[in-house]
Amino acid sequence: MEIILTTTPASELETGALVALAFCKAKNGDKNGEIKPADTPPETSIDGLDAAVGGWVSEVYAAREFTGKALETVLLHRPAGLKAARLVLAGGGSKSKFGTCEARKLAGTVLRKLKAKGVSDFALCLEGDLATDAIVEALAEGLILGDFEPDAHKTDPKKADKKIDRIRLSVPEASASLTEALRRGTIIAEAQNFTRTLVTEPANLLTPLKLASHASAMAAEFGLECEILDEARMKQLSFGALLGVAQGSAEPPCLIVLKYVPSALASSSDHLALVGKGVTFDTGGISIKPSEGMEKMKYDMAGAATVIGAMRALAQLKPPIPVTAFAPCVENMPSERAQRPGDIVTSYQGKTIEVLNTDAEGRLILADALTYAVRQGCTHLIDAATLTGAIAIALGHLYAGVFSNNEEFQSKVIAAGKLEGERLWAFPMDDDYNDYLKSAFADLPNIGGRYGGSITASKFLENFVESKPWVHLDIASTAWLDDAKPHFAKGPTGLSIRTMIRLALDWKA
Ligand code: BES
Ligand code: ZN
Ligand code: ZN
Repeated sequence: MEIILTTTPASELETGALVALAFCKAKNGDKNGEIKPADTPPETSIDGLDAAVGGWVSEVYAAREFTGKALETVLLHRPAGLKAARLVLAGGGSKSKFGTCEARKLAGTVLRKLKAKGVSDFALCLEGDLATDAIVEALAEGLILGDFEPDAHKTDPKKADKKIDRIRLSVPEASASLTEALRRGTIIAEAQNFTRTLVTEPANLLTPLKLASHASAMAAEFGLECEILDEARMKQLSFGALLGVAQGSAEPPCLIVLKYVPSALASSSDHLALVGKGVTFDTGGISIKPSEGMEKMKYDMAGAATVIGAMRALAQLKPPIPVTAFAPCVENMPSERAQRPGDIVTSYQGKTIEVLNTDAEGRLILADALTYAVRQGCTHLIDAATLTGAIAIALGHLYAGVFSNNEEFQSKVIAAGKLEGERLWAFPMDDDYNDYLKSAFADLPNIGGRYGGSITASKFLENFVESKPWVHLDIASTAWLDDAKPHFAKGPTGLSIRTMIRLALDWKA
């Protein structure tokens, strides 16, 4: 699928579908900012459209079949006066509230509707003041994200004829900055889809070492340094917490390290670490999970896939800070070799951990990876992990949880998330929560009991970051979508990748 900018005017575009964004006008005096249709038809992103198509816009509006409400669409075949096969009005809601999030969603919705109808070529018209860099970037992202289907393993030949080949964004005037915005949006969304592809892969096909080979192939393609620490190397380094989790599986573990350190940045005082939990399958181990829904535990490597995807984008977008990604990868299995509840392991950092529940494995592998990141010279750490079921109990599936030992760094991350439309919610991290983490036999237990599960998991991690500014994102709530949305397929979301990319790109020393 290609997305290109064009200055060909709407009336001249030969395409399967010409798409105009249409905005409803809020009535004056509306309470609660609620949008109600006004008495005039929606304003569209094609000047003079209503007149050009013989009053069709007014007509569908009068019939209340289309009012311009967000994500509403209506379609007309063979519109007189236009060269397009179809004309589509796509609701943008109130124009004053139409920002990048709305644009991303709308673009995805339009793409998915037209694709389902077998349209392979369409054009989005952006007349007037709509063609800003930010909107073009967001539209490109929405289109590419909307095009993703987690169907790589379906053999159904039907899908071949439902494919979008080309999308044109028709803008009043071309410019280098719009071209750059389109490029940025394309790189970011393709990276997010790369992450989603990895997360879709089932655990029999995506073992820790397979994930490492995907990462290293990506690194070779995009010019990143890649190092894979194997089991022997991690034994040498005494990664006791990570290796304890891995020992139950026949699949060997690894630590994937991807580096973006161009020579111009070699002397930078800041160095960002992106750390991602890579449990390719989480059975729970000896503290085994119930069988219902266990198939979803293939997504327990979403954090790893997110940081690998983020590096793919950063290699191309070149942030002003050195960035290294660390993805500890294991499979958590019960077996005669598996770690038992009550086992005591020694982390790479040196603290001993009593493993009270083998299902709280993510924090064990992250502990060693976080310490390793610090000892490799990283000054700021952000991790993404499908760490606790409790985070979805607290937040539902709309927000990911944020936990940090540093308010300033945390605000930067939340701000980056806001700009990218990735909702993040901060939790308390008072030291009093450490009282929940007491072990009679080791320095720390790996669980904190019944209450505040996402917080105690984070307090556990805090022990391993050597007091460096650190933010933890618990993405167990957002990394997987159970039901498709109009703009987005069911399955892996790739969420939190854009927050990480933005954080790196906007870095100020
Ligand atoms: N991978 C799970 C967390 C998870 C749950 C992710 C649901 C996605 C959806 C994690 O390893 C885990 O099992 N956590 C336990 C912690 C508990 C034993 C303290 C949990 O959340 O139940
Ligand atoms: Zn678990
Ligand atoms: Zn897990």
